[in-house]
Amino acid sequence: MIIVGNWKMFRGPEPSALVGLDAVVCPPFTRLRDCVEAGLTTFAQNVHWEPEGPYTGEISVPLLVELGVVGSLVGHSERRQYFGETDETVAKRTRAALEAGLRVIACVGETQDERERGETENVLRRQLSALEPHPDLVVAYEPVWAIGTGLTATPETAQEAHAFIKSLVDAPVLYGGSLKPENAAGLLAQPDVDGALVGGASLEVDSFKAICETAARIPS
Ligand code: PGA
Repeated sequence: MIIVGNWKMFRGPEPSALVGLDAVVCPPFTRLRDCVEAGLTTFAQNVHWEPEGPYTGEISVPLLVELGVVGSLVGHSERRQYFGETDETVAKRTRAALEAGLRVIACVGETQDERERGETENVLRRQLSALEPHPDLVVAYEPVWAIGTGLTATPETAQEAHAFIKSLVDAPVLYGGSLKPENAAGLLAQPDVDGALVGGASLEVDSFKAICETAARIPS
């Protein structure tokens, strides 16, 4: 089980409170160093494909590696929705990070409209076709309609999407979207759910710990 906390643009908990948890954290850039120094497995929330250059507001693999960061999220739906991220830029970021030795959690997922139009599988197929297989690649299935909305996919809906994703790519698949202590057990117990990408519930130490404890009880 891989449990990942995505702190987004929130300050998040004190890293010292998370020491000893079997989890990955994705804090905002200014808190990466504190998390690394506390000994947490620390990922960035995004990474650029060039090793350096005139790209204001971006961060490179070497700059992250220098800090002790070991991986990055790529293609989160908030990047796709608000910052012009495309399948092509997701592919470039993912390839560059993996080639340079970072682990990558690449995020995919359909919107409410796409699900209602019956396009979920086509969307997932298109998003995944941009990615090449790699041992350090993890996929996160995050239905956009479930992110930060309190609407969680049912365990059955998540399982169906995860099984479809696994038929296309050989990688662990995490579920993300309003996962919290109350619904974690049902989702994580699904055979093709290999862990969770947790947003809101990772901002509170107690709820994040509770999710990690639930995950630890699920036989692998
Ligand atoms: P949420 O966010 O748990 O707050 O829905 C998940 C994510 O966006 O990674």
